[in-house]
Amino acid sequence: MSTASESVIIALTRGRILKETLPLLRQAGIEPVEDMSRSRKLMFATSLDQVSLLVMRGSDVPVYVENGAADIGVAGKDTLLEYGGDGLYEPLDLRIARCRLMIAAPTRASAPGVRPRVATKFTRIAKRWFAEQGRQVELIKLNGALEAAPAMGLADAIVDIVDTGNTLRANGLEPVETIAEISSRVIVNKASMKIKSRRIRVILERLAEAVARLDG
Ligand code: PRP
Repeated sequence: MSTASESVIIALTRGRILKETLPLLRQAGIEPVEDMSRSRKLMFATSLDQVSLLVMRGSDVPVYVENGAADIGVAGKDTLLEYGGDGLYEPLDLRIARCRLMIAAPTRASAPGVRPRVATKFTRIAKRWFAEQGRQVELIKLNGALEAAPAMGLADAIVDIVDTGNTLRANGLEPVETIAEISSRVIVNKASMKIKSRRIRVILERLAEAVARLDG
C-alpha cells in the first residue's frame, strides 16, 4: 500500500541542466513517462512509483525545495550560492553543466578606478566576494545582456558564468578572475530527508552511482 509520505517530487532546472540531468536520472531508474520537451506541463510522472519531476527556472528550485514543495532539487552551484541560506542539504555534486563564475573586463581596459562599477545578476555572491577582499565596487544588477554593459559604458567589469569563453570574446571581454567553479548539485529538503529518508537515500545512492559511471 502506498502513502503520501512515500511520494517524492524532484524539482529540475530547465534548459541545459535539464538536458544533462535526464540521462543521470534515467541511469538511476527515473525516467519521465512522456517526452518533457514536447509538453507544456510542469509536472511529470516517472517510471519509478510515486516519483515525479517538476520543471522550473533554476532560481526557483531552491525555493521549492527549502519550503518543502519539492523534496529534492537539481540546480547550478551559482544559483545555490546566490540563493544562500542554510535551509537545504546539498549531498551530491552531479558534475554536469560545469563552468566558472568569473570576473571579466574589456580586453584593453585601463586600470580600474577607485570604485569600479560591476554589472552582474549574482549581486549577493559578488558583494561577498569583493567585501572579503576589501575591494570597493559599485554593483549594478542586470538580469541579462551583461556582456554588453562595459561596451555601453554601463559598467567597468562584469561577474558572469563562463563556459567556452565565446560570449566574452564576441563582446571584447576577457576573463580576469575566477570566483567559483560551478556544476549542478542535488539539494534536499531537510524535513524530507528525515521523513522520507529511505526513499531519498536510495535515489541519492543511485544518482551517485550514475555520476561515478559518467566520470569513470
Ligand atoms: C551563460 C552566461 C554567458 C554564457 C557563457 O548564459 O550568462 O552569457 O552562458 O557561455 P560561453 O562562455 O560558452 O560563451 P546562458 O546562455 O546560460 O543564458 P543566461 O544568460 O540566461 O544565463
